[in-house]
Amino acid sequence: MSIEALSGKVFLLITGASRGIGRQIAITFGSLLEEGSRMLLLARNKDALQEVAKNIPSKIKVCTISADLSNSTKTDFERIISECLSGTPCNSFDRLVVVHNVGSMGDITHSTNEMLDIDTWRQHYDLNFFVPAVLNAVIMNIFDDKTIKKTIINITSIFAIQAAKGYGHYCSVKATREMFFKVFALENPDVDVLSYSPGPVDTDMFKMACESNVDPDTKKFLDNIVETNTVLTPEQTVNRLVQVLKEHKYKSADHVDYYDEM
Ligand SMILES: NC(=O)c1ccc[n+]([C@@H]2O[C@H](COP(=O)([O-])OP(=O)(O)OC[C@H]3O[C@@H](n4cnc5c(N)ncnc54)[C@H](OP(=O)(O)O)[C@@H]3O)[C@@H](O)[C@H]2O)c1
Repeated sequence: MSIEALSGKVFLLITGASRGIGRQIAITFGSLLEEGSRMLLLARNKDALQEVAKNIPSKIKVCTISADLSNSTKTDFERIISECLSGTPCNSFDRLVVVHNVGSMGDITHSTNEMLDIDTWRQHYDLNFFVPAVLNAVIMNIFDDKTIKKTIINITSIFAIQAAKGYGHYCSVKATREMFFKVFALENPDVDVLSYSPGPVDTDMFKMACESNVDPDTKKFLDNIVETNTVLTPEQTVNRLVQVLKEHKYKSADHVDYYDEM
């Protein structure tokens, strides 16, 4: 399958690639890349990242680096990316693709009036917004050569555009992250930006959402997804993401949902 966003020699960075949707993005995108491409997979669990790498064709060089993305700094990212490049000049790649997949639910056991601990707010925004924003800036500065085409994929959620009771952390940070990438897209018209909302997907995060939410309305919404058997597999949603990239009907920084019209 020919997909412009994954064509040529690609440097592909995926955050949160050890399990769930990020793992599947690594495997599916890895199977579509051309020889000479390179992948940089980040998450905390190095063993799980190495297992993911075993599912990627051997013609693709894969760097698996354990990093806690809730406290990684500009300097950490510069070191990690340079380690993966290992002396290869950036302009030997035709394209840079970054998938900002990492995410966490935050506290879904309290309503907004009960969320009084500033450190808990900061920790949630560190992992889900501040650190991804810094990573994005670092990699854009490293790959600043205009001849390298660039695609940035932000894994977002329906909850970036739809409020849900008990989701003060999650909804607000997903909306923030989408708006950040809208600003980024305006400032970087040569970069293709997509905020992809994967639908309800059978991962650790989805299980946690079903088990922990205290709000009865949100619980009913999630229970209904499970009861009607509409939870997607990671493979289903990543195949849809590939289709969205291939058809490319979106404008840069659009929010495209799994269920949007084909
Ligand atoms: N599942 C859904 O139904 C659903 C729906 C809409 C949107 N999404 C979005 O899709 C993305 C992926 O979600 P998922 O369901 O696949 O989640 P998941 O199963 O919980 O996986 C999260 C990934 O992020 C990594 N991660 C978590 N904390 C980290 C940290 N501090 N440092 C580095 N890596 C960290 C995890 O790896 P380690 O534990 O190895 O670090 C793992 O690879 C998220 O942005 C989520 O908001 C999911």
